[in-house]
Amino acid sequence: MSRITVNFIKCAIIYFIFAMLLGLHMSAGGPKYPYLQIHTHFNLLGWMSMMIYGVGYHILPRFSGKPLWKESLATAHIWLANIGLLGMALGWLIQSTPVHLFFSAVEGLSMIFFAVNMFKTIRAVDPPKPAAAKPAAAKK
Ligand code: HEM
Ligand code: HEM
Repeated sequence: MSRITVNFIKCAIIYFIFAMLLGLHMSAGGPKYPYLQIHTHFNLLGWMSMMIYGVGYHILPRFSGKPLWKESLATAHIWLANIGLLGMALGWLIQSTPVHLFFSAVEGLSMIFFAVNMFKTIRAVDPPKPAAAKPAAAKK
């Protein structure tokens, strides 16, 4: 597996654990705000999206038979996805709209990096044609 895949999967697992702890905190009767928002997005933008990014970076180029369009864009993606998500959580925690908006935009930009990289990488591959029918065996 490439470094980007391993790092995304590791990040996904870490967010999963934190999201689970926040979920348990709410289940135990803790307040919902801001834990609900952070729980939701650690689960959906952290655990689920990052797992998909990691697996996607591994399998989509292989399915296409074509290398990833830009490794550097993937590196920028993982940094911005983490900075964006942690910043969004901070924005919710300190209840600051400007902080939340700024990091939401960072997160959104990271998503665009992934989208562009994948659009440039994936391509349809025609299935192999069936072997030409063999002429009927000559009768003796
Ligand atoms: C041990 C694991 C988990 C626990 C204890 C937990 C607990 C909770 C609790 C207590 C809430 C608040 C419900 C309310 O509105 O009163 C909640 C909301 C939510 N959880 Fe979890 N959760 C867990 C795992 C997950 C996972 C794995 C996902 C998604 C992959 C997820 C997605 C959500 C979402 C999207 C909401 C917000 C739903 C809404 O808008 O009302 N949770 N969770
Ligand atoms: C840049 C990306 C994203 C931004 C900036 C964002 C922002 C937000 C905001 C501001 C809310 C309202 C929170 C509140 O005040 O109650 C929200 C709610 C929600 N978002 Fe997102 N979101 C993003 C991505 C996603 C994605 C990818 C998913 C699902 C895969 C998702 C699922 C949800 C759900 C289920 C809720 C309702 C539960 C809650 O309030 O936490 N979001 N989001």
